[in-house]
This record gives sequence, structure tokens and C-alpha cells, in this order.
Amino acid sequence: MIQVSGLSKHYRIVKKKPGLTGAIKGLFHREYEVKKAVDDISLLIRPGEMVGYIGANGAGKSTTIKMLCGILTPSSGNVTVNGVIPYKERKENAKNIGAVFGQRSQLFWDIAVLESYDLLKHIYEIPEHEYQETIKIFTEVLQLEPLLNIPVRQLSLGQKMRCELAAAFLHNPPVVFLDEPTIGLDVTVKVRIREFIKKMNQAKGTTVILTTHDMQDIEEICNRIIIIDEGKILYDGSVQSIKDHFGNKRVIHFELDSEAPFQLPESLMHKVDFSCGEDGTISASFSNNVITAADVITEVMKEYRIRDLTIADPKIETIVQEIYERGI
Ligand SMILES: Nc1ncnc2c1ncn2[C@@H]1O[C@H](COP(=O)(O)OP(=O)(O)OP(=O)(O)O)[C@@H](O)[C@H]1O
Ligand SMILES: [Mg+2]
Repeated sequence: MIQVSGLSKHYRIVKKKPGLTGAIKGLFHREYEVKKAVDDISLLIRPGEMVGYIGANGAGKSTTIKMLCGILTPSSGNVTVNGVIPYKERKENAKNIGAVFGQRSQLFWDIAVLESYDLLKHIYEIPEHEYQETIKIFTEVLQLEPLLNIPVRQLSLGQKMRCELAAAFLHNPPVVFLDEPTIGLDVTVKVRIREFIKKMNQAKGTTVILTTHDMQDIEEICNRIIIIDEGKILYDGSVQSIKDHFGNKRVIHFELDSEAPFQLPESLMHKVDFSCGEDGTISASFSNNVITAADVITEVMKEYRIRDLTIADPKIETIVQEIYERGI
């Protein structure tokens, strides 16, 4: 569905010097700096895949999505979406894709939501019966009924995002790009949006590319993640395999039945990091390549009475945070 090879986007940024002299100098002599926002990336995405495209702020996610949508022309490299070169055949590409940019709106600001949809129906030449059916389903799943006759500018963020999402899927495109669709939304709206995306993927086989900073989105929607850093792909693989590879950090929280200050048992030295919480719980973090959870518990039990304990699961959130901070 999506083929990308050696794709790069370099922005040329004018270096501005401060103050009036700087501004005057700049009139005669301009200095440029080149920013490699996307730097030689290659990827293949099959029809029906749901891919999380993630990375720290400024990593190059939106730039990539914009090239796939045909909004930006690449500096070099090749890209096709459903066999179409996006920036060359923009109209053809527009039929194939739907997009939600969490920070922007594609609905018409001053008219009612339903009228916007009606316009999109004409733009995308959606047959009337198909349109009516789609609107009915979307209204139900995204709970749009009370919103349809309100102008977009009067909607709250969460209400608007639900309407945006319906607009992106309205013409049943084979690919949908979602750039931070859950930004700033409350938990129930997030859940509803995730359900909708999954439903569309199951029912229509829509390929979904999702960028987000919410790892819960990724866990619930995507089976594959691509991590990008400074314009380069750091990781491309399944969500499960990133957990298997990097999720070997475990944490056990102990509540001890003892007044005496906690001392790390000799046998756990250099294998386990202990920290003491404000509420008196002791947290033991370790890598399960080095020692098993069972052994840690046994060793602590030899010295202390344990009132309660919990073992924390490796979270994709922490794994990704570590990869952002320290690289792969
Ligand atoms: N129009 C532009 N002109 C110059 N530089 C730009 C432009 N747009 C983006 N950049 C730069 O390119 C880099 C990548 O930006 P991009 O918007 O793709 O990041 P992102 O991964 O989407 O980040 P975020 O998570 O903050 O949305 C950034 O360093 C940004 O400053
Ligand atoms: Mg972005």
C-alpha cells in the first residue's frame, strides 16, 4: 500500500542575526542552515496494516506524513501510496487517502458538520446510498447525532475530533493518516476514537498510519511500530517484539511489615536497584536477564515479612522513553 525508499526532506532555514544591524546585514547577505527533517528512510506497509509512527517532538513524523499526503515534495527519494506518487498526482492521491491532523481542521469552520460532510460527498463523488449508510454508522459509533447541525467553530475539541475522524473515513479511502488524533482528548473520547479506528480497519481493511505521543493508543491500535529519531528510522517491528527485546526491566513494589530501616540483602547486591517510596513501600527494579522475580521475592522474604507486593508489567511507555533518551 505504501512504498518508501531513500526518502528525505531537507528544510532550508534562514539564519537570522539578532538586532537591527543583524536585520540589515541579512538584507545583503543571507546565511542558510539545512535541517534534515527526514533523512533517508525506507519502509513498506502492506494493505490493512495498522502502524504506529512514533518519535520525540521534532523527530520528523509530521514531515513524513505530509510527504505521503502529497502536501510536501520530498528533497529526494521515492514514495508511492496505493501506486500513486503523492506530490505528482495530488488529485488521484486525495481519493486514496483520508487524513486527520490533530492540530488542524478539514471541516468548514462556519457551516454545520452535516453540511461539511455533504460537501465532501460531492468532492469525493460518493454515491448517495453509500453516503447515507456511512453517515448512519459513523453517527452511531462516534455518537455524532447531537453535533451534526452545529457549526464546527462551536464544537469543543473532543467533539470536533470525532467529527474530523468521520470526515477522514467518509469516502472509504484505502489509507488513512492520523497525526495525533487523540491530542488533548479525555479518556472516554480517546476510547471511542480507538474503537472506531479498529472497527474501520476490520470492516473495510483500511490501512492506518498513526502518529501519537500516547502509548496507550499504540498498544490498543497498532501491531507494528516504527520509531523515528532525528529523521532516521530507529526501529521498525512488531509491538510484541519491542517488548520482548527491550522490556526486560521489571519492578516489584514491596510493603514490608517492619519498622526497621530496609537494608538490601547481600545476595541481591549489584543485581537489584532498591528505592524507598514516601509511603514506605520499597521498589526493587532489575533486569530479568540477571535475576528472576521469584528469586528477588525469595531473598527479600528471608530477611523481612512481606505484607503485600505487586509486580509491574514492562510498559511500552517506559521502553519507548528509554529508546528516545538513550537510542536503541
Ligand atoms: N516548514 C518548516 N521549515 C523549516 N523547518 C521545519 C518546517 N517544518 C518542520 N521543520 C523542522 O523539521 C523537524 C521535524 O518536524 P516535524 O513537524 O516533522 O516533527 P514531528 O516529529 O511531527 O514533531 P511533533 O511530535 O512535535 O509533532 C523539526 O526540527 C522542525 O523544526
Ligand atoms: Mg508532528
